[in-house]
Amino acid sequence: MKALDALHTRISVPRLGEPLPDEEIIKNIYRAAFRAADHGLLRPWRFLVVKGSSREKLGELFLKAALENEPAIPVEKQNNIRQKPLRAPLILITISSYKDHPKVPEFEQDLSAGAANQNMLIAAHAQGIGAMWRTGSMAYASVVKNGLGLKEKEKIIGFLYLGSIQGPLKNLAEPDIDEYFKEW
Ligand SMILES: Cc1cc2nc3c(=O)[nH]c(=O)nc-3n(C[C@H](O)[C@H](O)[C@H](O)COP(=O)(O)O)c2cc1C
Repeated sequence: MKALDALHTRISVPRLGEPLPDEEIIKNIYRAAFRAADHGLLRPWRFLVVKGSSREKLGELFLKAALENEPAIPVEKQNNIRQKPLRAPLILITISSYKDHPKVPEFEQDLSAGAANQNMLIAAHAQGIGAMWRTGSMAYASVVKNGLGLKEKEKIIGFLYLGSIQGPLKNLAEPDIDEYFKEW
């Protein structure tokens, strides 16, 4: 797929399934992260790769965080929470990893990690792989951050769910570009 076509047509795919994308496709996705705009070339990011049974461990962590917040969650809802990471064969957790720098504030480093995450979304789409950027309360829960080994100045930018596209894709709505771009 041409770069512009990928940029113009990328959509999120909430319903993802097996198989896990091929190693070459996954590596292309990883490499795309490194072409994010990056003030000071700090590479203020790192990524956790969650697949196979690690997804169950992540589900347990999600449940632990949810129970800390609300101890009396009904069993059925507990199971839903536990199974969230099983929605895709691969999850990349994008972490903004702040590097002390006199000219590059934390906010810019977070933006750069977000750009890395977006690049991976586009690289997945360009290769026919479904992807969806999710956060939710789990991205901000201390239990989850500690369980994943985040350091003090690190943040979860997103859980990038990746896999084979299941079901029909939604139609693209053409944006009203002139609403957003005004000559100044
Ligand atoms: C930082 C961030 C966090 C998001 N978290 C969620 C989420 O937890 N759940 C969700 O359904 N969509 C979430 N989204 C939105 C989807 O990834 C997606 O962009 C949205 O559904 C619009 O679909 P589209 O990407 O096909 O335009 C998030 C997007 C961003 C940028």
